[in-house]
Amino acid sequence: MQTHEIRKRFLDHFVKAGHAEVPSASVILDDPNLLFVNAGMVQFVPFFLGARTPPWDRAVSVQKCIRTPDIDEVGITTRHNTFFQMAGNFSFGDYFKRGAIEFAWTLLTNPQDQGGYGFDPEKLWATVYLDDDEAIALWQEVAGLPLERIQRRGKADNYWSMGIPGPCGPSSEIYVDRGPEYGVDGGPEANEDRYIEIWNLVFMQNERGEGTSKEDFEILGPLPRQNIDTGMGVERVACLLQGVDNVYETDLVRPVIDLVASIAPRGYGAGNHDDDVRYRVIADHVRTAAIIIGDGISPGNDGRGYVLRRLLRRVIRSAKLLGIDTPIVGDLMACVRDAMGPSYPELVTDFDRIQRIAVAEETAFNRTLTSGSKLFSDAAGATRTAGSSVLSGTDAFTLHDTYGFPIELTLEMAAESGLSVDEEGFRGLMAEQRQRAKADAAARKHAHADLSAYRELVDAGPTEFTGFDELTSEARILGIFVDGRRVPVVAHGAEAQAADRIELVLDRTPLYAESGGQIADTGTISGTGASGAARAAVADVQKIAKTIWVHRVTVESGEFVEGDTVTAAVDAKWRHGATQGHSGTHMVHAALRQVLGPNAVQAGSLNRPGYLRFDFNWQGALSDDQKTRIEEVTNEAVEADFAVNTFNTELETAKAMGAMALFGENYPDEVRVVEIGGPFSIELCGGTHVHNSAQIGPVTILGESSVGSGVRRVEAYVGLDSFKYLAKERALMAGLASSLKVSSDEVPARVANLVERLRAAEKELDRARLASARAAAGNAAAGAESVGRVRLVAQRMAGGISAADLRSLVGDVRGKLGSDPAVVALIAEGENDTVPYVVAVNPAAQDLGVSANDLVKVLGSAVNGRGGGKADLAQGSGSGASGIDAALAAVRAELGRS
Ligand code: SER
Repeated sequence: MQTHEIRKRFLDHFVKAGHAEVPSASVILDDPNLLFVNAGMVQFVPFFLGARTPPWDRAVSVQKCIRTPDIDEVGITTRHNTFFQMAGNFSFGDYFKRGAIEFAWTLLTNPQDQGGYGFDPEKLWATVYLDDDEAIALWQEVAGLPLERIQRRGKADNYWSMGIPGPCGPSSEIYVDRGPEYGVDGGPEANEDRYIEIWNLVFMQNERGEGTSKEDFEILGPLPRQNIDTGMGVERVACLLQGVDNVYETDLVRPVIDLVASIAPRGYGAGNHDDDVRYRVIADHVRTAAIIIGDGISPGNDGRGYVLRRLLRRVIRSAKLLGIDTPIVGDLMACVRDAMGPSYPELVTDFDRIQRIAVAEETAFNRTLTSGSKLFSDAAGATRTAGSSVLSGTDAFTLHDTYGFPIELTLEMAAESGLSVDEEGFRGLMAEQRQRAKADAAARKHAHADLSAYRELVDAGPTEFTGFDELTSEARILGIFVDGRRVPVVAHGAEAQAADRIELVLDRTPLYAESGGQIADTGTISGTGASGAARAAVADVQKIAKTIWVHRVTVESGEFVEGDTVTAAVDAKWRHGATQGHSGTHMVHAALRQVLGPNAVQAGSLNRPGYLRFDFNWQGALSDDQKTRIEEVTNEAVEADFAVNTFNTELETAKAMGAMALFGENYPDEVRVVEIGGPFSIELCGGTHVHNSAQIGPVTILGESSVGSGVRRVEAYVGLDSFKYLAKERALMAGLASSLKVSSDEVPARVANLVERLRAAEKELDRARLASARAAAGNAAAGAESVGRVRLVAQRMAGGISAADLRSLVGDVRGKLGSDPAVVALIAEGENDTVPYVVAVNPAAQDLGVSANDLVKVLGSAVNGRGGGKADLAQGSGSGASGIDAALAAVRAELGRS
């Protein structure tokens, strides 16, 4: 049975049973604790927690999931994918254990000609949480499963949570016995390769708190209702129903293996285990990479971008290890698109962008590999020169750490050059690095705020935002926090006054909390208070759990008591600037897409009064012409004085209108749309905006730059700041024109002319300096002294001479000294207190055992220098001209001894 059919049967089965079909969410949701969506239930978390009311009691989805903790298992086991499709049915307070078991069992065991998967019931096993007798009884009753095929397992296996605070509950997993050829019997408890888990039924009934592992976490209490969350591994079911050995050989993954096999010198399944693993790694990772890029991530050095980079690099390295030397990623992406497109149309519609980003990473990484190969040859050369045949662990580690060489690649290259590698040393360094990374991660964890203090307020419901309609609102204080601790009252001067330590939570507020790229409003909170007038300045407003808005304040006078009525007011001038900044961002976004096309996809933004920046996916710098056009289109749209309309509507309606949504953002069903000038700009946005576009004022683009691979940033000033910036530029220009004594228009030509003249003068000066140095060198040669058995010229040169000139001079002088043993040592006062020096030794002196490399070290020790070279010529650089005489004396003394 093909994978697409497996998905379809799952959806059909549950839709027939009254479940709403919900599309997969993006793999990137707006939750900093979750790198990627790793289960079907993630998009439903607020429903389980009772924070939002689900529009349906039952739902079914096939969710795109990314799990990378087992990345090293990929290709080695038969069942680990970094990307997989999780088919799941969900009950929000509707059916519970019995329903979940019944639905799963019928779909699995119904014959294929009746819409089921046709698994042999005799091959199915179930596990349950230790004390879940109810589930055991249901498995027996509903499915007729005998007791000997039901196993009890502990918390690590059968108590499911997201690994972070959130909904959780005991689970029951369904396994298929693949038969004795896959290992010993004894059920899942004994062997998870033979008994392969295909479906996890979670009886979601509790809420978990912080914890350190799968087993160690606190249960905060029951959820408002009992729910069901299940997840069936589509790839694993495909593997079993297609009778293939592993998930990489299923119909949607295998085409990549076949494509690679048609290019690689060594085939798949040809008896080389390592090669087969490489094939599977490529097939698995390239699919995951396509999905991640599709959902808006570009390769980078941290977070999600880093995971993507790591996946792509593993693909490229695996291909290299298979003997493929040509670029391959572009073709692999096309292969993924063809296989996965029918289920994920975005891979088809967005293919050009996805492929471009992946190929750019391949090109960049290949360059790194080339530099790494050079480092490898140098290290191999040095190893041999040192008379060793073992490449050091440090070299292997540098190749791995800096150039991304897997140890296998280094081993292979070393073997080709007749060397072995100190693998133990390498592993030691890797272990140290892991240790460091672990320590870092632990340190970061402790810095996380403990959100449990706010839990009660979160449960009480969201803060009402009044700021779209008014700048001042009456409100009630629901909670006061100092350093994250709830307190009943806070007074001026009594507590720490730093603004980031005191927080007020109100039932409603006109102050905008930072989100969607718009930074928080500033303003005041004031009240009559229990003991006189109180006033606090609001420095920041942040959302907690996305629902309650926390005002970070400095109490300037009086005291605030929980329950008090207060007046919250936005600083009107600030808000005016903020609306200009945010509306300006929408205008620049629209203009960018008009000029660059739909591939310029938003990757992030930030705006505050007077300033905005906008990041977007794009390869390569923008031309001056493009920048000018973007600025022009933006300002024309400002000038057109478009009306700004904001309204709420259903997500689907908004999308149909062409409203631009952010990749990875988890939008509710009802969304707010901001429309500026009809089709010119339509975005989903919760921010505050001007009423018509002319209020934005002039927008001046400051520049455009790169902020990571494939992501560009445009920065601009808006409104009065834009004017101030232009006025400053104008004053600058006027100043320049006046000091150059020309009109503004003539400044560029005048500057070009001056630069040219300056260069010519510098060249002339260099020539003169060298000529005088040469003359000095000539004299020096004439006055060479006899030291020991050689003729020596040891001299301090005039200041300002470069190391290159010094090298050419030293050659001149050595040439003039004839064929008797001769040594030349020149040292100069360079720029910035550097002291460059060069030593040359002619062949006759080398025959006497004198080496430039040794002498340069003698020179260097007097001027804190470092350097080296060969027996005939060596150079270095130190600092501190006061050591020059001592350095020359040291050379004399050294030669005197020889
Ligand atoms: N959330 C559970 C899992 O991921 C079931 O869907 O296994």
